[in-house]
Amino acid sequence: VKAASVPLCPVSSEDDPEQELLCIFGTGDLGRSLGQRLIQAGYRLVYGSRRPHSCGPLPPGTQVADHEAAAQSAQLIFLCVHREHYDFLESLTPQLKGKVVVDVSNNLKRDLYPEANAEHLQRLIPGAHVVKAFNTLSAWALQNGPSDANRQVYLCGNRTEAKQAVAETATKLGFTVVDRGSLSAARELEDSPLQLFPDWRLPMRLTVGLTAFFFLYVVIRDVIYAYVEQRKDISFRIMVSLANKVFPIVSLIMLSLCYLPGIMAACLQLSRGTKYKRFPDWLDRWMLCRKQLGLVSLAFASLHVLYTLIIPIRYYVRYRLAAITISQIRENKTTAFDTTMAWRTDSYYSMGVLGFGLFLLLGISSLPSVSNILSWREFSFIQSKLGYLTLFICTFHTYLYGWDKFLHLASYKWFTPPSYMLCLIVPSAVLLLKMLLLLPCVDKRLTRIRQGWERADPE
Ligand code: HEM
Repeated sequence: VKAASVPLCPVSSEDDPEQELLCIFGTGDLGRSLGQRLIQAGYRLVYGSRRPHSCGPLPPGTQVADHEAAAQSAQLIFLCVHREHYDFLESLTPQLKGKVVVDVSNNLKRDLYPEANAEHLQRLIPGAHVVKAFNTLSAWALQNGPSDANRQVYLCGNRTEAKQAVAETATKLGFTVVDRGSLSAARELEDSPLQLFPDWRLPMRLTVGLTAFFFLYVVIRDVIYAYVEQRKDISFRIMVSLANKVFPIVSLIMLSLCYLPGIMAACLQLSRGTKYKRFPDWLDRWMLCRKQLGLVSLAFASLHVLYTLIIPIRYYVRYRLAAITISQIRENKTTAFDTTMAWRTDSYYSMGVLGFGLFLLLGISSLPSVSNILSWREFSFIQSKLGYLTLFICTFHTYLYGWDKFLHLASYKWFTPPSYMLCLIVPSAVLLLKMLLLLPCVDKRLTRIRQGWERADPE
C-alpha cells in the first residue's frame, strides 16, 4: 500500500532526535485534545486518518498521514477511535508489530461486549503491545491539563516495557500514573467512567432516608398535631422552621456516623485480640465512605447556619415580636430579663459557632490539595482529635438548645419525644464509647493490638 502522507512536512522521526514522534489514530475531540497536550509537552505528532486530506482542523505543528504511514513512523500509537471501528487495524498487522498501542476507548454502557475493548484489540493485533490508559480522562480534562482534579491516569497492560513507555508520556503530560496491573484489569478501567458517583451511593441513601424520616416526624409532630389538636394551620413553618430542624438533625447524626465505624472497628479488635482478622464487608464499606458522610454533614450544617441567619428577617418572627411588644404596652407590663435564658441561648449559639468553625476546618483539610501536603500524623490529628472535638461541641450545642425541655410534658406531643432528643442518641453513644476507649487500660491494650500484638488463644 502506498503511503499517502499529506505533504505539509514529511513524516519522519529524524527531524529533531530530541523530540519523540508519537502517533494518534483518530481525529475526533479526544484525539485533538490529547494531541494538543502532547505537542505542548514537547512531542512531535502524526495523526493517522482514513481521509488525511479532509480531516478538519488539527492542533498546529502536527502532521497527518494515512494509517500505514503514520503507524510506520512511531513506536507509540494512541488509538482514539470507537471499538466498532477497530477492524481496520487487522490490515495494519505488519506496521503495528512490536509497537505500543494505547487503547483510550470507553463504551456507552456496561457489559456491552463480552470482553474488554483492550483485550479485543490485543486479539486483533497480537504482534502489538496493547496498553489501556487515559480512558478515565475526558477531552475537557486533557485540554485543561492536570491543574484540575482529574490528575490520575490509570493504566494496565501485559508488557512492562510498554506500560513504562506510556507511563513516561503520561508523567511528561503532568499526570500521576496508577498502574492497575495486566490487561485483565481493562474491563474495570472501562467501567469506571460509566459509574455515577460510586463512593456517594451509600452516603446519599443514608442522607435521603434520614432526611425523609425526620421531615415526616417533624411534620406530624408540629404541623399535623397543631391542626388536629388546636385547629391551627401552621403549615407555612415547613419552609423555614422545620427545614431548620431537619438539616441540623441529619447533619449531627451523619457527623456521628463518621466516627461510629472507627469505634466499632476498635471494639472488634479488642474482642478478637488481634488486628490481623478482616472486618466484615459492611464495616469496610462504611469506613470507606466516611469522607462523603462528613461532607454531606458539613453541607447540611451550612444550610442550618444560613436558615438560622434569616430568622430575624422572617415575616412570622417580626410579626410575633411586634405582637408581643404591643400586648406588653397595652397591658402595661414588661417581662423581666432572664439571666439564665441569656446564658442558655448565648451558650448554645456560641457552641454552634465554634462547632461550625471546627467543622469547616475538617472540610478544608479533607480537600486533596490540602490533605496531600499534610503528614499522616497531622491529617489524623485534624480528622480524629479535632473531629471528635467538633462532634462533642455540636452535641453540646444541641443539649444546651434542649436545656430542660425534656422535663416538660408538653414537649412529648402524642407521646413522642422532640426530634432533637432523637438526634442526640447516636452522637451521645459515640462520645460515650470513645471515652470508654480512652480509659488508660483499654487504650493501652488497643495500642498494643494495633502495633501487632496478638492475644494467645487458649488451646
Ligand atoms: C438548633 C444556631 C451550628 C446542630 C439550633 C437553633 C439555633 C441554632 C438558633 C434553634 C433552631 C430552632 O429554633 O428551631 C446555630 C448556629 C450555628 C449552629 C448560629 C453556627 C453558626 C450547628 C452545627 C450543628 C448544629 C454545626 C451540628 C452539626 C443543631 C441541632 C439543633 C440546632 C441538632 C436542634 C434542631 C431542632 O430539633 O430544633 N442551632 N447552630 N448547629 N442546631 Fe445549631
